[in-house]
Amino acid sequence: MKLRRMISLLMLLCLLGGCAAPSAAPSDEKYDSLIVVGFSQVGAESDWRNANTRSMQQALSAENGFRLIIDDAQQKKERQITAIRNFIHQGVDYIVLAPTTEDGWDTVLAEAKAADIPVIIIDRMIDSSLATGYAGDDLFTCWIGSDFQRQGNAAVQWLEQQFGDQPLRIVHLQGNYGSSAQVGRSASLDAGLARNPNWTLAARDSGDFTQAKGQELVEAYLAQGIDFDVIIAENDNMAYGAIDALKNAGLTPGRDVTIVSFDANRKALEMVMSGEINYDVECNPLHGPRVQAVIEQLERGETPPRFTFVEETAFDAACLTQEIIDSRGY
Ligand code: AHR
Repeated sequence: MKLRRMISLLMLLCLLGGCAAPSAAPSDEKYDSLIVVGFSQVGAESDWRNANTRSMQQALSAENGFRLIIDDAQQKKERQITAIRNFIHQGVDYIVLAPTTEDGWDTVLAEAKAADIPVIIIDRMIDSSLATGYAGDDLFTCWIGSDFQRQGNAAVQWLEQQFGDQPLRIVHLQGNYGSSAQVGRSASLDAGLARNPNWTLAARDSGDFTQAKGQELVEAYLAQGIDFDVIIAENDNMAYGAIDALKNAGLTPGRDVTIVSFDANRKALEMVMSGEINYDVECNPLHGPRVQAVIEQLERGETPPRFTFVEETAFDAACLTQEIIDSRGY
C-alpha cells in the first residue's frame, strides 16, 4: 500500500515538474502521506447507519492519518459495485464495504483483489455462510460486524420468557430482503414460530429499515383490521414508525401492543425507559475505531483477525439504567 502511494506521488511529481526535485509544501506532503480509504456505505436509511458513518469519519480522519472517501449507495447494490470500481480506478489503499445484501459481490471483489487493494467488510456479511467458511474466502481481508441471528434469538427468547405458552399474534417488520441483518433476525423468528405453536404471524413485510415504511406498514395493517399483540421491528427506525402509527390509532405502544426492536439507539433506549418499547436488542454501529485498528495492523505488516463479531447485549426496562442511556455513544 505504501508502495502504491509512493508511486502515485512520484507520478504526480513527474507530471507537474518534469521529474524535477519535489517542491511540495509541507501540507501537501502530509496530504500525500495519508492512507486513502474508499468506503462504500449502504445509505442513510436509519439512525444506526448515520452513527456508523459518523464513527468511520471520526476514526478515519486526517488527524489519524487517513483520507476517507465515502460513497452513499442509497441502499442500491448496483451503486456500491460502481463505487468499488471507482475506488479501484482511483487507486485507493483500502476499500471498506458495508454491503446492502449478501449476494453478488464475487466479480467486483475479484477486481479489487486483482488490483491488490485489501477489502475490509463491515456490518453485514457478503454471504450467510461466511462465518462458517465462505467459498470466496480470499476476496476480502477481514470482516467486522454483528451476529444477526444471535440478536434475533435474544428477541425470541425474551418473548418466550415473557409470555410462556400464551397465544401471540405477531406483526413482523423486516429489513431489506437479502441483507444479513434481515436474513439472520428473520431466521430466528421463523425458528421461534416453529417451536411455539401458539404464535401466529399476523403480518410480515419489509419496511426497508426506514421509519416512514414502518409507519406505513402498521397503518395499513390497522386499516385492514388485522389484530396483533406484538410488533417485532428489525430496527429502531421501523419501530419508531410503528409506534407513531399505533399512537395515531389511539393505541398505547408497549402496553396494548408489545414492541420488540433492534439497534438500541439512545432514543430507543429512552423509549424502553418510558415503556413504549419493551425490548431492544443491541446492534453496535461504532466500527470506525475497529477498522482503523485493522488498517494500522495491516500497515505494520501484521495479520488482523479474519472475523470479528462485536459483543452486544439487549435491554428491557428491568435491566436498563439512566447511566447506560447517558453513556450511549449512538
Ligand atoms: O445492518 C445493520 C442494520 O442496518 C441496522 O439494524 C439498521 O438500523 C441498519 O439500517
